[in-house]
Amino acid sequence: MNPSVPAALPILSREKLHALLRAMPKAELHIHIEGSLEPELIFALARRNGVALAYPSVQALREAYAFTNLQSFLDIYYAGASVLLHEQDFFDMAWAYFVRAQADGVVRAELFFDPQTHTDRGVPMAAVVQGLARACRQAHSELGISAALILCFLRHLSEDAAFVTLEQALPYREHIIGVGLDSSEKGHPPEKFARVFARAAEHGLHLVAHAGEEGPPAYIWSALDVLKVQRIDHGVRCLEDTSLVQRLAADNMPLTVCPLSNVKLCVFPALAQHNLPALLDAGLCVTLNSDDPAYFGGYLLENFVQTFDALPQLGAPAAYTLARNSLQASFAPAQDKTRWLAALDDTFARLAA
Ligand code: ADE
Ligand code: ZN
Repeated sequence: MNPSVPAALPILSREKLHALLRAMPKAELHIHIEGSLEPELIFALARRNGVALAYPSVQALREAYAFTNLQSFLDIYYAGASVLLHEQDFFDMAWAYFVRAQADGVVRAELFFDPQTHTDRGVPMAAVVQGLARACRQAHSELGISAALILCFLRHLSEDAAFVTLEQALPYREHIIGVGLDSSEKGHPPEKFARVFARAAEHGLHLVAHAGEEGPPAYIWSALDVLKVQRIDHGVRCLEDTSLVQRLAADNMPLTVCPLSNVKLCVFPALAQHNLPALLDAGLCVTLNSDDPAYFGGYLLENFVQTFDALPQLGAPAAYTLARNSLQASFAPAQDKTRWLAALDDTFARLAA
């Protein structure tokens, strides 16, 4: 048992556990904001912007969300993002996410965005960043959510293209807290982006990378040792390598795990077979996240509820650990973390006593 979990947490009924999962303050550290585009909003933006879609209706689009692996998802995800053209579109997308996140008890959200998906279609970097940044400011002032942006490089493209993207983003440096690495993992190891991550670090940006979602444990090692990341996104395949697990535990390296995503992309056959309990038992700093909630069937709370329902060994102690890990692993200022951690303890004192 983790020493900082409150002593003697009782076994709660499903209803009480669900209420606790909702009420506990938590951070979402792995959400691709383009993956929060619901089919209804895709169609509304397509109409507003005069963009033709390959699907005749919202229902037909939703029915296409039957993925066999990461690439089969990415093909549809990039097509969905093609409706985003103007600053207001990026604002509307992020604002819709923040409203959902508040209902789920999210107090801090660090949003991934994929500028190359937009700039390669002629959308100015300014429209992307300024629309998202405006939504982040409004999330703070109107919803009380602390929000920040992490620019992801698309790993199926070249490192030179990533350098161009970083340069294009630097005029908006004040709106960006870090860089990440996403898109097709297999065949695109972290080493490919060593120099651009080093350059991002020189600019004081935080560093994260997807690794060990579909790719091998070797990609997690190189994300740590070559890219020098501060969090691993996914990382679930680490359990295949005992010395890697020891390293991750020794470094208290956060893993941003996304259970519904893992099942939808066939990384695990079902939530009941997810390795989350084993990751926790190994002492790893696991967090739960939604990845691309509009495509994978649930926002953050739904990830918690479905995962806890499918894995009955997870109860109030695991809920506390996951929420606390998420707050501590965020890139938020220390005084915010202290406040949220106190609120977390209050929530458990009220709802799990
Ligand atoms: N881009 C959006 N979602 C992703 C995921 N789960 N893995 C890699 N790239 C992504
Ligand atoms: Zn992801």
